[in-house]
Amino acid sequence: MSKQETFPTPFLSRKDGVLHLDGVNLEQLVQQHGTPLYVYSAGHIRDAFSQYLDAVKGLDATICYAVKANSNLSLLRLLADMGAGFDIVSAGELARALEAGGKPEKIVFSGVGKSTAELEMALDAGVGCFNIESPAELERLAAVAQRKGKVANISLRVNPDVDAKTHPYISTGLKENKFGVAMDQALATYQRAAVLPGIRIVGVDCHIGSQITQAQPYADALDRVLALVDLLHDHGITLHHLDLGGGLGICYKDETPPSPQTVIGELAAKVRAWADKNRRDMPKLMFEPGRSIVGNCGVLLTSVEYLKHSEDKDFAIVDAAMNDLMRPAMYESYHGMTLVRSADAAHQKDATHGAHNASHSSKTSSTYDVVGPVCETGDWLGRKRHLTLGEGDVIAILSAGAYGMSMASNYNTRPRAAEILADAGRARVVRRRETLTDLLGPERV
Ligand code: LLP
Repeated sequence: MSKQETFPTPFLSRKDGVLHLDGVNLEQLVQQHGTPLYVYSAGHIRDAFSQYLDAVKGLDATICYAVKANSNLSLLRLLADMGAGFDIVSAGELARALEAGGKPEKIVFSGVGKSTAELEMALDAGVGCFNIESPAELERLAAVAQRKGKVANISLRVNPDVDAKTHPYISTGLKENKFGVAMDQALATYQRAAVLPGIRIVGVDCHIGSQITQAQPYADALDRVLALVDLLHDHGITLHHLDLGGGLGICYKDETPPSPQTVIGELAAKVRAWADKNRRDMPKLMFEPGRSIVGNCGVLLTSVEYLKHSEDKDFAIVDAAMNDLMRPAMYESYHGMTLVRSADAAHQKDATHGAHNASHSSKTSSTYDVVGPVCETGDWLGRKRHLTLGEGDVIAILSAGAYGMSMASNYNTRPRAAEILADAGRARVVRRRETLTDLLGPERV
C-alpha cells in the first residue's frame, strides 16, 4: 500500500490506512454487516450519470440506463430521480424499473427472446419502445398488440457488423452474433412493420458490445445506421430516433476509454452534419449505458478464510466466490484488489495493541491466486496478486459495481451477499444478506 496507490473512483480513499467509500469506513461496515458485502457509492453514480446528461445537453435525447448492469432498486431509484430512462430485457427488469419510479414512456425493451407474457406486460405498462430483434418477434408483437387493441412503438435493432474490439462474449455487433437483424434484412423488415396493424415505427437501434474502449467502433456503427435511415427514407419510412446502445468501457486496470462527452459529442456532430446535408430534422438520440455508470461505483468486500501455500502456488481462499462475482470465471476479467486496512496500518495497529488478534498476527507477503470456496477450478477472483495477507484480513475487490451482484447466483447453495449504498458518509442496507431460509423456501421435499 504505497503512497502512489490509485483508485478507479475519486469516491474511494484511505484515511489512517483504512479504505473509505463515499465517506463510509469500510472496516466498520464489515464489522456490522459481515462479508461478502457489496458497497456502492451514490456520489459516483450521480457523477457518472451527470456526465451523460452533460454530453446530451441541448439535444433531444434520453439516457436509458441498462438495468442488467446493476438492478438494485435503490440504484434504479437514484437514477430515475435524475431523469434516467431504462433499458430492460425481461419482465423482471420491467417490474424493477417501474417499482423504482421509472417512467414507462422512457423504457426501451431490448432482448432477442421476449416471451408473449413479457410483450403483454410491457404493452400494458406502456413502455416507450420495443427494440425488435427478429422478424418473428415483430409478427408476435403485432399479434399481441392487436389482441389488446393497442399500438406498439418499435425500433429495429440492426446488426451493423462492426467489430467492437472487446471480449468475444460481450461483442454483439458482428454478423455471427445472435443479436439484431442483419443490415440486408432491415429494409424488408421495416417494410413489413409499416403495414402491420398494431405496430408504429419510431426508430432504429444498435448495440455493438460492451467494455468498448475506443470511439471508432461507435462511429462506424453510426455510419451504417445512417445509411439505413437514408435507404428507409427513400422508401417512405421515417424514423424519429436513433438508439445507439450502450457499451462504453471503464478502467479496470489500465484501460483509457473515452468519456461519454467525447463519444456522444462525436456521434451527435456526425448526426447533425448528416441531418444538415440531407435537410432532415435532427432525430432524437438515445443511449443505453450500464457499466460506465455503475462499474466503478462499487466494491465487493471479502474476508480471507485461509492462506494455503504449496510448492507451485500460494492461494488466498476468501469468502466471496464466482457465485458472487462471476466475471473473472466467465471472461477472465481483471478486478483490482486492495486491503481494507493497509498492511502498514495493520502492522502499526498490532504494535500498539500487542498483536493478540490472530487475524493480524501472521501476515505473509506473496503472489497469491485469490480464490473462492466454490468447487470449481474456475472459481477465482484474481490471479498473481502481490498482497500481504493474514487470515481475517478484508480485501476490497474493485470495479465491482457492474455485472457483479446482477450476475450473482446461489451456486453451491451460497446465500447472496448484502448490498450497501454509501452516500456522503452515510450507509444504508439496500439489500439484506440472503438467508438459508430464503434459499430453501421455494423447494419441497
Ligand atoms: N444495451 C443492450 C442491448 C445490451 O445488451 C447491453 C449489455 C447494454 C445496453 C449495456 O451495456 P454496457 O453499457 O453495460 O456495456 N456481463 C458482461 C457484460 C454483458 C453486457 C450485455 N449487454 C460483463 O460482465 O462484462
